Amino acid sequence: MKNEEFSFKYQVFESIEQLNIEDAYLLTEARKITQFAYAPYSNFKVGAYAKLMNGEMVSGTNQENAAYPVGICAERTVMSVASALFPEVGIKTIAISYDNMKGKSDHPISPCGICRQSFFEFQERTKNPIRIILSGQEGKVLLIENAADLLPLVFGSADMK
Ligand code: THU
Repeated sequence: MKNEEFSFKYQVFESIEQLNIEDAYLLTEARKITQFAYAPYSNFKVGAYAKLMNGEMVSGTNQENAAYPVGICAERTVMSVASALFPEVGIKTIAISYDNMKGKSDHPISPCGICRQSFFEFQERTKNPIRIILSGQEGKVLLIENAADLLPLVFGSADMK
């Protein structure tokens, strides 16, 4: 028997002012785009804004449904938009923010498990690691250099070969 360990490094910034210009722009847009979320059930509006490897920008918000599981997260909306408009182009950086209509929006939230799995396959197939910026409408910002870090012991297409 041997013990194994998983850890990864990520950066923490006290506010958007500490980011470089491009990252600050992406986060600003992610914060703004939350207004286009359709979230009448959770009242939790999520916005994601990404720069692709070809320089194009794409955005997405969460889109809910009365049949709850039908709803889709902002992150996967962005991946679908990117794949539809620019097939095979990788995501360089995605910023994710939210507006909690029932409470505070002052701390970073992190992608759900399904989105982590989707990020993993998206970056595998486009052969490009995705940088992730996480922050609320204000306050701390987290920067993760590789989306795969969010899903240790991942199940992927390689396991099926
Ligand atoms: N949601 C996202 O869109 N992204 C996340 O990272 C977390 C959760 C959405 C799903 C649902 O519409 C609402 O937020 C509450 O879970």
